[in-house]
Amino acid sequence: MSDSASVCTVVPAQTGAIDRARLVAEQLDLAYEKNLDGASGSVALIIDREDAWLQEISANRPGPVRVDFASPAMMHRRRGGQNELLGRAVGNKGNRHPWVFDATAGLGRDAFVLADLGCQVAMFERSPVLAFILQEGLNRAIISQFPEVRQAAARMSVQHRDSTGIAAAPEQVIYLDPMFEERKGTAASKKDLRVLQALHGYPPDHQHLTDWAFAQPVSRIVVKRPLKAVPLTGPPPSHTLKGRAVRFDVYVR
Ligand SMILES: C[S@@+](CC[C@H](N)C(=O)[O-])C[C@H]1O[C@@H](n2cnc3c(N)ncnc32)[C@H](O)[C@@H]1O
Repeated sequence: MSDSASVCTVVPAQTGAIDRARLVAEQLDLAYEKNLDGASGSVALIIDREDAWLQEISANRPGPVRVDFASPAMMHRRRGGQNELLGRAVGNKGNRHPWVFDATAGLGRDAFVLADLGCQVAMFERSPVLAFILQEGLNRAIISQFPEVRQAAARMSVQHRDSTGIAAAPEQVIYLDPMFEERKGTAASKKDLRVLQALHGYPPDHQHLTDWAFAQPVSRIVVKRPLKAVPLTGPPPSHTLKGRAVRFDVYVR
């Protein structure tokens, strides 16, 4: 079984989803359990007939973690000032929409923001479970009832790969969000972070990711950091864009 097998169990949402859940468990090399009470590990991948989400397996069972680009929270984020900052950090300006290599895709939230601003975004995620729910979320976004969600989704792609094994193209901007330090945020964002930490396998190897990024023939690398954290090791950032809780260190080469 895969590394994720000890932390994640596949559970069907209802009897009508049993066959699909068994298939997904086999495909991702994960344990299968018919209900959440019998699930082991820290996270369950809940499979419904046309949906999939993550659920922490803890006594208080905080709500589901989904990749839903049409959710009210994402719609709200579309209008937020932070998006502007992320767009500026990757060099999105007027009709200039960079091609972004999102090397740490996670739940695809930043990738969606960039695609919504007009960038083509190639997402890479090394956790098979996260890559799976990202692809599911993208499939739903492509047929969303909201035209703006469909348009952004059409600019996104996802691959289950370790970014450090791939060569970025010179015209791409590399985007890194490797942070796992405790972030300020709502209960919902902390719940998302706990799921990411569980599936990622803590602690992450920032150094390896940074070494890889700086060895690529790209002219811009953007790193998301908590506002007060030290920059990742490597050359000092060319400039920094600061938001309320996070900042973007921009390396122009
Ligand atoms: C903090 S999360 C990113 C959150 C993301 N920016 C979002 O908006 O949802 C970091 C993610 O990077 C992934 N990751 C870390 N190192 C990676 C690598 N070398 N290749 C691909 N994915 C990686 C982890 O599995 C984790 O899901």
